[in-house]
Amino acid sequence: MNYCLEVKNISKVFPGVRALSDVSIGFYPGEFHALVGENGAGKSTLIKIISGVYTPTEGEVFLNGAALNAQNPKQALDKGIAVIHQELSIANDLTVAENIFLGDEPKTPDGFFLDRKKMNEMAQEAIDSMGVRINAKAVASSLTAAQQQMVEIAKVITKNAKVVIMDEPTSSLSEHEIEALFMQIMMLKKNNVAVIYISHRLNELFITGDRVTVMRDGGKVTELLIKDTTEKEIVSNMVGREMKDYYMHTAHTRGKEMLRVEGLSVPCLFENISFTAYAGEVLGFYGLIGAGRTEVMETIFGARKAAAGSIYLHGKKTNFASPRDAIAANIGFVTEDRRRTGLMLNCMLKENVVLPSLAQHSKKGFLDFKWEAVISEEYIGKLKVKTWGINAIINTLSGGNQQKIILAKWLIANSNILILDEPTRGIDVNAKAEFYALMDDFVKQGGCIICVSSEMPEILGVSDRILVMREGKLSGILNRDEANEQNIIELASLQSQ
Ligand SMILES: Nc1ncnc2c1ncn2[C@@H]1O[C@H](COP(=O)(O)OP(=O)(O)OP(=O)(O)O)[C@@H](O)[C@H]1O
Ligand SMILES: [Mg+2]
Repeated sequence: MNYCLEVKNISKVFPGVRALSDVSIGFYPGEFHALVGENGAGKSTLIKIISGVYTPTEGEVFLNGAALNAQNPKQALDKGIAVIHQELSIANDLTVAENIFLGDEPKTPDGFFLDRKKMNEMAQEAIDSMGVRINAKAVASSLTAAQQQMVEIAKVITKNAKVVIMDEPTSSLSEHEIEALFMQIMMLKKNNVAVIYISHRLNELFITGDRVTVMRDGGKVTELLIKDTTEKEIVSNMVGREMKDYYMHTAHTRGKEMLRVEGLSVPCLFENISFTAYAGEVLGFYGLIGAGRTEVMETIFGARKAAAGSIYLHGKKTNFASPRDAIAANIGFVTEDRRRTGLMLNCMLKENVVLPSLAQHSKKGFLDFKWEAVISEEYIGKLKVKTWGINAIINTLSGGNQQKIILAKWLIANSNILILDEPTRGIDVNAKAEFYALMDDFVKQGGCIICVSSEMPEILGVSDRILVMREGKLSGILNRDEANEQNIIELASLQSQ
């Protein structure tokens, strides 16, 4: 069989960084070929070269044996290469249907006018076929991160491409949506489409995977057949050594009450939420996507207004008018959507990490620049952020490394309550283990963590207690020793009696 897509001897050098060195990979039609590697290994850069976002410093891309040399994404798409990039490219002001057909909208029979009715119908059909409930006429900004991701997926699936590339499509999806995605991937394979797939969730590779290429530090380490390999073998190739035991939960001692929430409600989002979070504990928040967990956190943080209920901080009734007040009260919030609410993308790494601490470390309005440099270096080291230095612009860091910067900034800010919303999304296995250890430290020093996560192993691994939400309501709180996958899922999904 011949490759339908081949990259040959690709290198890419950015000022000061060699992102790829001499990478050659062949992709077969009808195969699911995964690309894996630690944060900053060069996966997204390779995808951007294939799809014409970047030109390679050396090497070439071939499509069906002919040089492709796409100068821009439109050229690549016209030749049959459709891509979902790691960072969503949804146009917020457009509707779902407009997003799906952006650039090739269906026209009326005379070929002049946009056939809006047809466009909406086709978009709705594509979405329905994925088994998710999204209205094609809804404005994209009104969708959750997961729904936006499903729209991106619908977009590539409707393109009739020969090569479909997905860079971490599942990082914001729940089980149900992931299942729907894999149904689509199997259809693509049946239609002889080459699927190139990037993910840090290695178990996904075994669903319908054929082949995996492991990358490390910009180079190709090995190529394996999925049927002949294991998750363990893949991981040791990724990190270049045997992985030690993954995260181990250590015993925490519960301290005094930090945050108490009573009867918190926002109409249509969540209702009557009450819980207490203590110093020295990780309180996990589990639920299916759409259960209302993020909205509860946003309300506590002062980003939304509660219609009813009260919030007590250290036993005193509080009402944050805005996130600024919450930050001043030493609450940190790692949001689930880093591009929208977590980072100043065009600013330097060091400027981002000190942002919530500016007030504490400025004198007469001037930031202590020495401290800024020292603390930035310290956390780059602690979190193993891959970058050429603290002056790097955030936008040029790999996705997972951007996520590490968001974590760093709240750890630096001396928060004593940390709200983490899907904190390890897009972070590689090795870095995850390190991050869990940092959470552990934080709690041992008397901090309180509220951790929203849709990943079962993560919730079970890090939490001292697990609070489960279903459709905007609290459905139960379990202690660590009584919680297991089954009772958590039951609480998260059973219909109310
Ligand atoms: N536009 C750019 N300018 C400078 N350096 C860049 C740019 N884009 C990527 N890099 C660097 O190239 C390297 C590879 O990054 P890339 O985004 O390809 O990693 P990745 O494997 O996709 O990682 P992740 O799993 O975190 O998404 C990183 O060191 C990154 O900082
Ligand atoms: Mg990437």
